[in-house]
Amino acid sequence: MAVRTNAHFQELKGSYLFSEVGRRIAAFQEKNPDRDIIRMGIGDVTRPIPQVIVDAMKRAADEVGTKEGFHGYGPEQGYLFLREAVAGYYQGFGVTVPPEDIFISDGAKSDLGNLGDIFDAECSVLVTDPVYPAYVDSAVMSGRKVFYAAATVENGFLPLPEEGMQGDIIFLCSPNNPTGAVMTREMLAQWVDFARKNGRLIVFDAAYECFIRDSGVPHSIFEIEGARECAMEICSFSKKAGFTGLRCGYTVVPHELMAGGISVRDLWFRRQSTRFNGTSYITQRAAEAVFTPEGEEAVEVNLEYYRENAAILSDMLTECGVKHTGGKNAPYIWMQCGTSEENVMDSWEFFDRLVEETGIVGTPGSGFGKGGEGYFRLTAFSTRKNTVEAAERMRRFFAAMK
Ligand code: MLT
Repeated sequence: MAVRTNAHFQELKGSYLFSEVGRRIAAFQEKNPDRDIIRMGIGDVTRPIPQVIVDAMKRAADEVGTKEGFHGYGPEQGYLFLREAVAGYYQGFGVTVPPEDIFISDGAKSDLGNLGDIFDAECSVLVTDPVYPAYVDSAVMSGRKVFYAAATVENGFLPLPEEGMQGDIIFLCSPNNPTGAVMTREMLAQWVDFARKNGRLIVFDAAYECFIRDSGVPHSIFEIEGARECAMEICSFSKKAGFTGLRCGYTVVPHELMAGGISVRDLWFRRQSTRFNGTSYITQRAAEAVFTPEGEEAVEVNLEYYRENAAILSDMLTECGVKHTGGKNAPYIWMQCGTSEENVMDSWEFFDRLVEETGIVGTPGSGFGKGGEGYFRLTAFSTRKNTVEAAERMRRFFAAMK
């Protein structure tokens, strides 16, 4: 038999959403080399990694250059010092997670994509619509059926479980990418209850939990009773500590979590120890420093900076009469592509016009799913200067639209 490719790749869109945005911007820049572009598309951070974390990295780099401090292959799940630091962080939300249930990785996206390896190919997936496209594309690549729960203005972009909803593996993200909506404890409890009653498994993406500022909003699904029996959780240092380039994340797979009588944690261990050789020692030392008092303090300064950026964008949109959500407990602002129902454009048309007229790049809502049509996502991760400038340019853009 001649070699054949995975036919499911033919079911994917031509390119990944953020690659498509990048491609269009590169083309625009080629035609307009003098235009000053402000990037608010992919959620890449701009604040440098805090010095206390860089110092930890430097110390680790020096260490591996010595006979005594050399580190080769690390432990499969990550170094205990980092898993203990993560466990300590969870304790801060009143959640006890044993280090044995924590797996260090090179970032949330890898784990979100890879976890499909341990579930039967027949297991389907339930996602919200709009949704972070990596969940859907990864599921499609492995031939899984994908079901959607509509996230609409009416439900505050936070669909709840309903009788008869399909999908064996349920992806939930709160604070949400792309809508910035946050689930209350009660909402999350409804999903946990649904999963337990119906034999489903929840993958909780907590990549943006560090942006939560309202008290009472859950940072972790494990704050909900019964979640350990039905959920795993994925988190990242990318947005929290500026690790988008450095790469580090963690996944919690509780030892209580079983599927068909088999420990999901044990399968994940088996998968990771076979197909992943770990995050570098230097990176893990950097990540450990995030949880020191000095690290937490420095990280908080950066998070506050992004929160203020979000407030600048949100205030501008309110002033311009543009309906939007997010920005308060999340680094994303989800806005309508117009100032009224009469002038709402489709998402890619809005993308093109915004770049053309203002030089601002955002992400078209329809790239996150059909339910995102007519919406647009801005990130708060730009520099302050660019955020203020973008707000000015958008004020003029919307004024001209009216
Ligand atoms: C986003 O812009 O949605 C994220 O930055 C993408 C990611 O984290 O992979």
